[in-house]
Amino acid sequence: HIIDITVDPRKAIESACDVLADGFPIAIPTETVYGLAADATNPAAITRIYETKGRPRFNPLICHMADLAMAEQYAIFDPVSRALAEAFWPGPLTIVLPLRSESRIHSLATAGLDTVGIRLPRGFAGDLIRAFGKPLAAPSANTSGKISATSAAHVEADLGAKLKLILDAGASVVGVESTIVKVEDGKLRLLRPGGLPAEDIERVAGQKLHRAKKASAAIEAPGMLASHYAPGAAVRLGATHIDAGEAFIAFGATSLPGAEKAAIVLNLSPEGNLAEAAANLFDYMKRADASGAGTIAFSAIPDEGLGEAINDRLRRAAAPRE
Ligand code: TXA
Ligand code: MG
Repeated sequence: HIIDITVDPRKAIESACDVLADGFPIAIPTETVYGLAADATNPAAITRIYETKGRPRFNPLICHMADLAMAEQYAIFDPVSRALAEAFWPGPLTIVLPLRSESRIHSLATAGLDTVGIRLPRGFAGDLIRAFGKPLAAPSANTSGKISATSAAHVEADLGAKLKLILDAGASVVGVESTIVKVEDGKLRLLRPGGLPAEDIERVAGQKLHRAKKASAAIEAPGMLASHYAPGAAVRLGATHIDAGEAFIAFGATSLPGAEKAAIVLNLSPEGNLAEAAANLFDYMKRADASGAGTIAFSAIPDEGLGEAINDRLRRAAAPRE
């Protein structure tokens, strides 16, 4: 049930459209992470997404579109949101917009909100949506609360037994989820840092992004509550030394005292490149977890550019669990 899309992309799209039309979710590659996609207008199909992930139904799904014209059928664009869409779509940016009242996106996908998070994925996923002709609701293709999948093998290991079809396009090039923004009361708000650096958005919008305070951010984007991206191991951030038996995930050229006694050492980017680090992040977390170490220690990662998204995911991975 895993199809390598590079062998025959048209056939892959045909098979995918069959399963989607039957009302079942499929795993699809996007440039950010793999998505668990279903027809955003079909309540039975959307219900299956929530069931497959074990996701709480108050947490809305991002709706993926083929192009701006399709997006405009479902949502109302203000000038700033339109400028961002024109600059960054297709790409790793989700814009939360008012839903059109006549929209056929089902309220299960938006969790009953009067807004919808919209994204245009790059490449194959866009071609698939164009062929299907309807928006695809798609959260990340992982069990709720666990680490997102950046390869078909990750999806297979986590959700394979529950899925009819996984489309394989290799590793996701960006590696962290999309950045989510919303224009509200004339202010541009950052709901989730992600694969598009905040600095790039501010440059095009000609204004600063407003970051929600940690607590209220949880209410704004419900999926971003406390513990998320949790590996089996405990997570220790900003390490300055490594204890014997810990898994060590490094960044940049400098090592840490005690690294020679680590269970496993992985380096997100020896050259200190944040894009490379983002692309490796989830895969390395899974590998460190699989080493059996009780704790994964991370060295500090700069908080600029894509580092903001990386540090956001790491803080959630380190957050206290139930
Ligand atoms: O890169 C991505 O964004 C990936 C790929 C598959 O597109 N998708 C993804 O979906 O990360 P998910 O479900 O794991 O995260 C979506 C986030 C959740 O935190 C959800 O609460 C928020 O988007 N969200 C969705 N619709 C929203 C809305 N109308 N208002 C506020 N937040 C919303
Ligand atoms: Mg997710």
